[in-house]
Amino acid sequence: MSIQTAIAQLKQEKDFFIMAHTYQPPEIIELSDRTGDSFALAKAAREVKQQNILLCGVRFMAESVKILAPEKNVWLPAPDATCPMAEQISPERVRAYKQSHPDAVVVAYINTTAALKAECDICVTSSSALKIVSQIDAPEILFIPDKNLGGWVKQQLPDKNIVLWDGYCPIHNALTEADVLAAKQAHPQAKVAMHPECPAECLKHADAIGSTAAIIQYALKSKEPVIIGTERGVADTLIPAHPDKTFYYLAKEKLVCPDMKKITPATVLSVLEGNAGENVQLEESLRLRAKKSIDAMLRLGE
Ligand code: 13P
Ligand code: SF4
Repeated sequence: MSIQTAIAQLKQEKDFFIMAHTYQPPEIIELSDRTGDSFALAKAAREVKQQNILLCGVRFMAESVKILAPEKNVWLPAPDATCPMAEQISPERVRAYKQSHPDAVVVAYINTTAALKAECDICVTSSSALKIVSQIDAPEILFIPDKNLGGWVKQQLPDKNIVLWDGYCPIHNALTEADVLAAKQAHPQAKVAMHPECPAECLKHADAIGSTAAIIQYALKSKEPVIIGTERGVADTLIPAHPDKTFYYLAKEKLVCPDMKKITPATVLSVLEGNAGENVQLEESLRLRAKKSIDAMLRLGE
């Protein structure tokens, strides 16, 4: 029996639903029931019928699902798969900031720990940040932790007083303007779609900027070839799935998130067999405080 068949059988037998972030490798995307960007995965958590959710992604994504669906068992196949950006500011720093800036609204990118979300007022994802921040009426908005996503939002909302934290995704932030110019020179007829976690000097060369889901949507609609400016998992799946279209990698060797590559079909099978993975647990009062900021995101972002 192939590993894919074994997974499909066990999934049914043990009442599992498999979700995968768009950065997961194609062999994980293929065996998933639902794929999407972090906003789509968080929203989907509320509709799953199965008792067990196996989240192929990093810890903050599994935590977000658990926050919204506490009655489910939420399994993280690789417990050490974390997003380095998620802890670039401590909950204590946020608390201290709020004490010294009582009128400020604290906006947290969803790439944060549950403990951080519990201290913030509202969460955003890359696909909802602009829409949500534009609706916030406050004398000051502290945006944590991603200075690139926050900077991109700030640039488009010049009337808002947005204060940026100095955090970043180590993968996207390593992209340079020279990398973008080299890809454009190699494929002069192509459009460039980029994730807002990339630095501003790179984003200024993009034809489209958006979440991983928005990049995929743009690429599929485009009549011209598209350079995919985000973690390479997106292009790894898009390229073989659409042989009629032309997509190019951007800095293929650089844009690799090692944490997103920790899950393999063998790991998924082990979780279904009960031999691997972590059943994510959150202390109830912390979950409820974190849920407030995710609920606010869903309210303003949908
Ligand atoms: P999305 O919000 O586009 O899913 O991005 C999540 C992420 O981790 C980007 O690096
Ligand atoms: Fe975190 Fe960057 Fe990996 Fe996304 S690509 S999970 S932001 S480290």
